[in-house]
Amino acid sequence: MRYILELVLLVGFLLSFCYGCTDKDIALPSLVPEPISYEKLSDNLVDISRKGIDISIDTSMEAEAFQITILKKSISIVVADSMGIRYATQTLRQLKDYSNSGIVPELKIFDQPKFHYRGMHLDVARHIFDVADIKKYVDMLAYYKFNYFHWHLTEDQGWRIEIKKYPKLQSISAYRDSTLVGHYSDVPPQYDGKRYGGFYTQEEVKEIVDYAQSYGIVVIPEIEMPGHSLAALAAYPELGCVDTEYRTATKWGVFSNIYCPTEQTFSFLEDVIDEVVSLFPSKYIHIGGDEAPKDAWKKSRFCQDLISVKELKDEHGLQSYFISRMERYINGKGKQIIGWDEILEGGLAENATVMSWRGIKGGIKAAESGHNVIMTPTSHCYFDYYQSVNDTEPLAIGGYLPLQKVYEWDPIPDELDEAYHKYILGGQGNVWTEYMPTFDQVEYMAYSRMIALSETLWRGKDNKLEYSDFLKRYTDHVNHWEKSGVNIANHTLDLNYIIAKSDNGKLFIKLKDRIANATIKVTSPRETRLLGVEETKYQIDGSGKYTFTASNGGREGRPSIVDVKWHKAMGCEIALKNEPNQAYPGYGALSLINGIRGSQEKYSGNEWLGFSGESMDATLNFDSTIDIESIQVSTFNSPGQWIYPPKSIDVWVKTITKDEFEKVDIQEKLDNVKHKIHSQELMLNKKDVVAIRVLAMDHGVIAEGNQGAGNRAWLFIDEIVVR
Ligand code: ACM
Repeated sequence: MRYILELVLLVGFLLSFCYGCTDKDIALPSLVPEPISYEKLSDNLVDISRKGIDISIDTSMEAEAFQITILKKSISIVVADSMGIRYATQTLRQLKDYSNSGIVPELKIFDQPKFHYRGMHLDVARHIFDVADIKKYVDMLAYYKFNYFHWHLTEDQGWRIEIKKYPKLQSISAYRDSTLVGHYSDVPPQYDGKRYGGFYTQEEVKEIVDYAQSYGIVVIPEIEMPGHSLAALAAYPELGCVDTEYRTATKWGVFSNIYCPTEQTFSFLEDVIDEVVSLFPSKYIHIGGDEAPKDAWKKSRFCQDLISVKELKDEHGLQSYFISRMERYINGKGKQIIGWDEILEGGLAENATVMSWRGIKGGIKAAESGHNVIMTPTSHCYFDYYQSVNDTEPLAIGGYLPLQKVYEWDPIPDELDEAYHKYILGGQGNVWTEYMPTFDQVEYMAYSRMIALSETLWRGKDNKLEYSDFLKRYTDHVNHWEKSGVNIANHTLDLNYIIAKSDNGKLFIKLKDRIANATIKVTSPRETRLLGVEETKYQIDGSGKYTFTASNGGREGRPSIVDVKWHKAMGCEIALKNEPNQAYPGYGALSLINGIRGSQEKYSGNEWLGFSGESMDATLNFDSTIDIESIQVSTFNSPGQWIYPPKSIDVWVKTITKDEFEKVDIQEKLDNVKHKIHSQELMLNKKDVVAIRVLAMDHGVIAEGNQGAGNRAWLFIDEIVVR
């Protein structure tokens, strides 16, 4: 028996050395994040799954750093701390997953993260997911070396954490009577009429916290205050300012009824915090602070008296008082607060860390005042935004955040002085689940971009590789998850394009990032053929559909369809007085005169130009004189997303006979409001025109009582059609 055992061990030993096996061409497995140093030492092959590992501690190394050396004779890991061991372990897992059955060449890896805070968020309030699913999410975080899981537990639409002292949070706040179906801005809104809800028991919370902790992942609970609190008010209406019947929200958005800053509210929240801190070892407690309209506080006698007694400036001062008071309580428990960037308004609480989501300005301001910051701007970190412009994408909240944009993001703003860089702890991807009713949909929306964010946060800008390099490794990872039954979005064969203009004034479709080894088929009004390997441009020469489809290794991507409707301004010279917002730049002004309409459902994609609080003022110059019958301007209409049609549209023309612009007396205006699109056709009937100016005035400040009240509305325009 003993001999048999020894023989088995010997065979294992020999196999593990893979004696005699070498392969000159064996590639290093695809790792994400790609280690800072990753070298092949020889072509000798080692079966890593069969070997023991020597671990040693070197305290001269930086926190979280690790070194792995895989040799025929041994595998060794050197680390400074337990996190280093965890990251080395995940690296070994990846080596196994992306090699041939765990057989890799002799190699050496050294790695350490650039940012200490590498977070992913999950909203379980809009939709709740099983404990098993939350664990799957945590597994994915661990695999990609995130170290913080921001768990968004309370909302207007549901309270999801058991608080023993307040049982009505479980019986009332955890449930809503119905849920919105379709998009928030659909008119009229549709509801499913079904009771929905649930909560995590304290036992389940502990189970998840322990599970994450086994990977070294810290779970940060978020308990929203003073806003996003309608579900709590439904159970405990005495915590609101208004004497009314509150109901757990059935629609998405921001609600004006929020906690009233009474002693009763503070006692309630302090009790909640007492139970929360006993469940979460995290040094941070997130207290929300975002989107808390002040309408109820403005109308409340109690709030107005409190403002004067405390000598506060206004309701923002009252919000600051609220947050600072809760901060003191939480600090007293040995914990620190994190809040969304609205906590800057009215004065920032002393030790608070700011999560900058409404762009980067809040983060910059906080860092400049010596506060720690976690960057999570909507533009680069909101994984509830569309990830592809393909029309077959499932319904999402809006926006457009493709993989490349996440990959190329730098959490440290260019405009932040180097002296303050140390306050930027890192970044986080946010997964708000209004439009993710199932965990399948969470996987679809979150994971792809999470992989890009992993490398972004681990390597930082200075060490980051080219996107094309990342894409090769990313493709291996996505294929792996697909094979493992994970519902990850796999758009690597979707073709992205831009519309550009050549020097001779012709318009063409230019494919971006031609995918290595992929075959591309084009079908256009003039032909169907495969593009040559070097061919990346295709001329547009008339109305019709131009369709591009990539395929590789038996897999076909979704077709990219460019539907051109030729009109008289196609490809003319165009200049814009105001630039579109950086988040929605399209292909520049050319998007407005390329004959291609934006999606009629969503404003994401390159055909829509988004102007944030500014008008669209375009001047079009034609090569030769044209006769103009009408001009049609189409705008997106979605007040729930702060997007409004223009207040007015005015047109000036310049004709061959008169070398100055003259305002046109519009002969007739046809308004066509269809679902989310508002198009206005202006009848001009002008002859011999050489230039026109079109001014679409933005809506201005959004009125009270609407989403985004007090902010300037957005104006989205996709095309100026000249007929
Ligand atoms: C947020 O997206 N309201 C932080």
